[in-house]
Amino acid sequence: MSDRYLDLVNSGLGRTLAARLGLPRPTPLRRYAVGQPVLDGPALVAGVGDAPLLAVVKPALVRAAVDVVEVGAGPGQATGRLGAVVLDASAARTVSDLEGVRAVLAPALKRLGPCGRVLLLGAAPERLGAPAQAATQRALEGIVRSVAKELRDGATANLLYGAGDGGPALASPLRFFLSARSAYVDGQALRVGPGTEEGAGHGDHPLAGKVAVVTGAARGIGAAIAEVLSRDGAEVICVDIPAAGDSLAAVANRVGGSTLQLDITATDAGELIAAHVARRHGRRLDVMVHNAGITRDKLLVNTDAERWASVLAVNLDAQLRINDVLLDATREGALADGGRVISVSSTSGIAGNRGQASYAASKAGVIGLVQALSAQVAGRGITVNAVAPGFIETEMTARMPIGTREVGRRINSLGQGGSPVDVAEAIAFLAQPDNTGVTGQVLRVCGQSLVGA
Ligand SMILES: NC(=O)c1ccc[n+]([C@@H]2O[C@H](COP(=O)([O-])OP(=O)(O)OC[C@H]3O[C@@H](n4cnc5c(N)ncnc54)[C@H](O)[C@@H]3O)[C@@H](O)[C@H]2O)c1
Repeated sequence: MSDRYLDLVNSGLGRTLAARLGLPRPTPLRRYAVGQPVLDGPALVAGVGDAPLLAVVKPALVRAAVDVVEVGAGPGQATGRLGAVVLDASAARTVSDLEGVRAVLAPALKRLGPCGRVLLLGAAPERLGAPAQAATQRALEGIVRSVAKELRDGATANLLYGAGDGGPALASPLRFFLSARSAYVDGQALRVGPGTEEGAGHGDHPLAGKVAVVTGAARGIGAAIAEVLSRDGAEVICVDIPAAGDSLAAVANRVGGSTLQLDITATDAGELIAAHVARRHGRRLDVMVHNAGITRDKLLVNTDAERWASVLAVNLDAQLRINDVLLDATREGALADGGRVISVSSTSGIAGNRGQASYAASKAGVIGLVQALSAQVAGRGITVNAVAPGFIETEMTARMPIGTREVGRRINSLGQGGSPVDVAEAIAFLAQPDNTGVTGQVLRVCGQSLVGA
């Protein structure tokens, strides 16, 4: 569904009118296309104190063909537009160290180009014993969340908390958050653990040779996930209910994948998925994306047992049962070591929503699932994460009453709804083989929505 307001205020006359009337003007976001450079301009790289993560960050940026400039470098570069500001504040330990953050950001933000990126690197506060150190690191979250709300023209600000020794696991998140793949991820703090050494390079096809299953792939966000995983090189198995068979086949044809018509609430759903993987691909599964979901919205007082059960069965129980089967290492077609499990949650699962107690229960439950399961399977190098979309332009949101839809679109820092591809890009990032340090996390794709903020 098109966003007429965004189109209008970015047209010739509309732009002038919006400026005269002082109306907000959301910017069309820069989105990823194959072969596109990571950034639209150089990255200013700076640190607070001895900034230990820069030893990883700088080579990673150079490998990603990002032009790196440093504070105070060459007079020509000191005034040009920046594609990004990357600031390692992980060594900040006292409240006065935070001045170092302000001193870098204040002048640099003025130079940030449209759809630019601010990326702070910190040390996870919960790993620091001393209250002053934890307070200083937690303060970075306040800075990033505020800066994200201050930035204009589609620019975003996010924070990576290193929860390990700042090893190679940072490179994959760094690329994602700087690139256009993270267009609708704003104001977020993500933890990056030590990760493992395994993982492939990061060319245009990071998922080459991988087999992925996407549930609910017949339309909407699921179809976009299938397309993006396939674009990134994966062989995709598209799963949806038999009633959606025609559109499922159309998606599978588009992505050169296979179809599996299946109601995921079937008691043998996990077994059928594993059997399909083994039969069609003769190998194990690398990426399991639990995207299928339904809503049966009603105030809790009006919710009967049937509605309640159907939402929890599709959105939560099916995921738990399918995971149980796919994590059985002895089963043919089950998840390989080093595999990825990615669930679609929702900002409603974080904040709750009027009329959505069943849906919010299921989506909050998904968060509990990934947190517990990630710890259980860490020894096999399997990561388990969730994405929590905010307002995404799909058939689901197109059916909303116009008032609710307009509010949903605007109450975020980017002033617009996300697109299914934004959720898909976040999932593809979590699926990357060299993204070994991000696990047990919930990544919001919501343009920094005020819901659940
Ligand atoms: N659209 C949004 O703004 C938004 C926001 C937050 C979260 N989400 C979540 O994202 C996911 C995708 O949402 P969408 O907007 O694309 O929804 P959608 O309704 O357009 O698509 C969901 C797909 O899941 C399939 N499905 C439903 N029940 C199934 C079952 N039992 N077995 C197999 N397939 C089944 C449907 O047939 C459909 O193709 C859902 O989990 C949803 O809760 C969406």
